[in-house]
Amino acid sequence: MDKHKIKVAIIFGGRSPEHQISLLSAQNVLASLDKDIYDPLLISIDKNGTWQLNGDSMILDHAEDPNKIALGKIDRPILLSQNTNERSILSARTQEPLGKVDVIFPVLHGTFGEDGSIQGFAKLANIPCVGCGILGSAVGMDKDMMKHVLRSAGIKVAKWATIRNSVANADYKKIEAVLGNELFIKPANLGSSVGVSYTKNEHEFDHALAAALKYDHKVIIEEKIVGREIECAVLGNAEPKASVPAEVTVAEGFYSYENKYLDEKGAQLSIPADLTETQVKRVQELAVRTYEQLECRGMTRVDMFLTEDDELIINEINTIPGFTNVSMYPKMWEASGLSQTDLISRLIELAIEENNKENQLLLT
Ligand SMILES: Nc1ncnc2c1ncn2[C@@H]1O[C@H](COP(=O)(O)OP(=O)(O)O)[C@@H](O)[C@H]1O
Ligand SMILES: [Mg+2]
Repeated sequence: MDKHKIKVAIIFGGRSPEHQISLLSAQNVLASLDKDIYDPLLISIDKNGTWQLNGDSMILDHAEDPNKIALGKIDRPILLSQNTNERSILSARTQEPLGKVDVIFPVLHGTFGEDGSIQGFAKLANIPCVGCGILGSAVGMDKDMMKHVLRSAGIKVAKWATIRNSVANADYKKIEAVLGNELFIKPANLGSSVGVSYTKNEHEFDHALAAALKYDHKVIIEEKIVGREIECAVLGNAEPKASVPAEVTVAEGFYSYENKYLDEKGAQLSIPADLTETQVKRVQELAVRTYEQLECRGMTRVDMFLTEDDELIINEINTIPGFTNVSMYPKMWEASGLSQTDLISRLIELAIEENNKENQLLLT
């Protein structure tokens, strides 16, 4: 092992319902990591929240199968020291130091990873962490907060209502009167379309709301937007850049978990999207503005609708976008001339740059 290499802790798995997607993403991040510069250290978090040291490769069962992929059995539970500047991995049993970490690359989608929690941990420990910070992650994750911020910045989002805790708190007639009868129901804090439903009547609505409330105590109800689904990748800290946009066309229904990951014919990805030059420019400008308004840094994928009236409406952002082999964020950069290896290196550089900048602030 070359001690001059930067040690990158790729943290993957996690307690979120997007655990399996994370396992798929992490394999690609690892495969693309430039091993001449970086030394990977794989840390898995199981569904119970136990951190395990995998070493320099991932220990997985059914690694290729999105239905069955799971963490392999390991018995090396570890802790990452929360002490500022210690940056060390310790055996969970003996507290014996097992090595150092220079940067964290969280490949954790959804709750406990994409929502500011791992970012908060990294900040306490003063370890550079790839992607958005605490605020950008938390606001970007919460679809309700995200919409409030964007709306106040004059960025168009689908009209929505927020329901908390119980189906009994939703007045269907009122919601239907404002948002129409075709509705999208979503847990406020999740991704990969887990818990997302499309409903057309009160019966379906009640079911969908109850299902979404199992994933989050806060659920958003949105009007249906008729339009093309356009995505744009943004990369950078102070001067973020947008990639060429891409388009997702679903074979049937909406861009569900099934269409995303399980059904190979479920969605067609067009990279770059078939758009006019002016449309491309508008998409990129909106993606960067959205990124800035939501305090993003490092990376984020910005998803929007393009309506028949040529209007752009932000759907959502993904602060730790998928890195699976069908994922758009790395593919959009590839189509923009940045290889996945260079993208991963850039993300790590941005994390170190941001951490250095934070450390210049006065603390007294
Ligand atoms: N308001 C809406 N109008 C039309 N389609 C929608 C709307 N909201 C979501 N969808 C569809 O549902 C999919 C998943 O919703 P999204 O908000 O992106 O959730 P997730 O964070 O789980 O990806 C979208 O990609 C789109 O196909
Ligand atoms: Mg989405």
